[in-house]
Amino acid sequence: QSLVIAIDGPSASGKGTVAQLVAKCLGFAYLDSGALYRLTALAAKQQGVAWSDEVAVSEVASALDVEFIGERIVLAGADVSLGIRAEEIGSGASQVAALPMVRAALLQRQREFSTMCGLVADGRDMASFVFPAAQLKVFLTASAEVRAERRYKQLIGRGEKADLALITSDLQSRDDRDRQRTVAPLAQAHDAFLLETSNLSVDEAVTQVLSWWRA
Ligand code: CDP
Repeated sequence: QSLVIAIDGPSASGKGTVAQLVAKCLGFAYLDSGALYRLTALAAKQQGVAWSDEVAVSEVASALDVEFIGERIVLAGADVSLGIRAEEIGSGASQVAALPMVRAALLQRQREFSTMCGLVADGRDMASFVFPAAQLKVFLTASAEVRAERRYKQLIGRGEKADLALITSDLQSRDDRDRQRTVAPLAQAHDAFLLETSNLSVDEAVTQVLSWWRA
């Protein structure tokens, strides 16, 4: 059975950063499942498909022509690594992610990331739904204030405009949507370890995950 570490948590909790470093340390592959929802939102927008049109968006999701080349994400031949990180696309991602047919369309694609040499999968439902047999499950979170600050710094670091008050309210509505939806709502799996990172550095969080893995 292949090795999987599932790391779930709310927006801007820092799970992507931690998951990538854990994957690097262990020589495992990495799945950024949120990127697939972001790609679906972006592709739908490019094709003029409304984010609320479940059937049409699920067809877009099934047909995604995407390649993950190291840290680059290429959609239909164009590098969209930065494009999918725009706040508008993040909001679209959380809207399309609430549609059951879209989640079903992306399920197999996510499972295909699992390789013989191990996988670290980051998302909202990695532990509960996509990789229920994962050997280690972590629910990584941080306070709303800390998460808003992390997202703010991330946007500023990329040279984008950012407004802390706007980010805080956007994260709040995204969290509410992710927690309240009927399919795969964001929640800590019963067999997941809780990792509260408000007062932890990235290194400390990575060290904790590695020590759970080695235990
Ligand atoms: O960067 P951020 O943490 O805000 O979001 P992300 O991980 O890139 O995911 C974008 C959106 O996709 C989230 O707001 C979720 O609604 C959705 N998502 C999901 O429903 N299930 C996943 N496994 C991953 C993301």
